[in-house]
Amino acid sequence: MIDIHCHILFGLDDGSDNIEESVRMARIAVDSGVRAIIVTPHSNVPNSYRNFWSKDLTARLNAFTKRLEEENLPLKLFPGHEIFASGDFIDLIKEKKLLTLNGSVYPLVEFDFNEYSDSVYLKLEKLVANGFTPIVAHPERYSFVHEDDDAIRRIKNIGCLIQVNKGSLHGNFGRSAYRTSREIIINRQADFVASDAHSPYMRTPRLADTHELVSELSSVDYAEMLFRYNPFNVIRNKKISSAE
Ligand SMILES: [Fe+2]
Repeated sequence: MIDIHCHILFGLDDGSDNIEESVRMARIAVDSGVRAIIVTPHSNVPNSYRNFWSKDLTARLNAFTKRLEEENLPLKLFPGHEIFASGDFIDLIKEKKLLTLNGSVYPLVEFDFNEYSDSVYLKLEKLVANGFTPIVAHPERYSFVHEDDDAIRRIKNIGCLIQVNKGSLHGNFGRSAYRTSREIIINRQADFVASDAHSPYMRTPRLADTHELVSELSSVDYAEMLFRYNPFNVIRNKKISSAE
């Protein structure tokens, strides 16, 4: 499996604190069948994590990759960001200060949990108009999605892809996220399920049980698409076809 949303790169945000913690997370991922992770530190968050890509981030990624080799852990790492959609974020993506997933046409974007729907749609439309295919991180956690049964369809109609969090499906982010995430899977509106892991303890990168859950809620083929084939096509910058 390939995890496209994971706060495993150390010392940058509220994810892994240090390289030892990152190695522990990597071991959990590998043990549950994950073979590649796109690292997605929070970025461009107003008054908080900025994390524009720099030599320092490249150095961290290289140091972590080297450490995985030394530990004989069969896990490939790819660069990326979880981009908070605010300010001049589209210009920053074009300048490569904010990274799309492995340099593809797919930026992973997040919003304030209480952002108004019209503001979200407008930002996504602008991204699409600039040639990107946004992957919306955990839409099942947003208030405007809970309040509007049609919100996911609207996001998809703009030309975006949908990434559901494993924690939502297991009920870790409240009843609304639980209900909405399961509806998205049952309706086959999701394009990815990812860990959004932050640590080796609470929000971990273990994906095997979530793959099993999605197989039960829908089908094994759909789970394979969400955890394996679509993420592989992101890494290769290939087209993603919808399951709907
Ligand atoms: Fe995240």
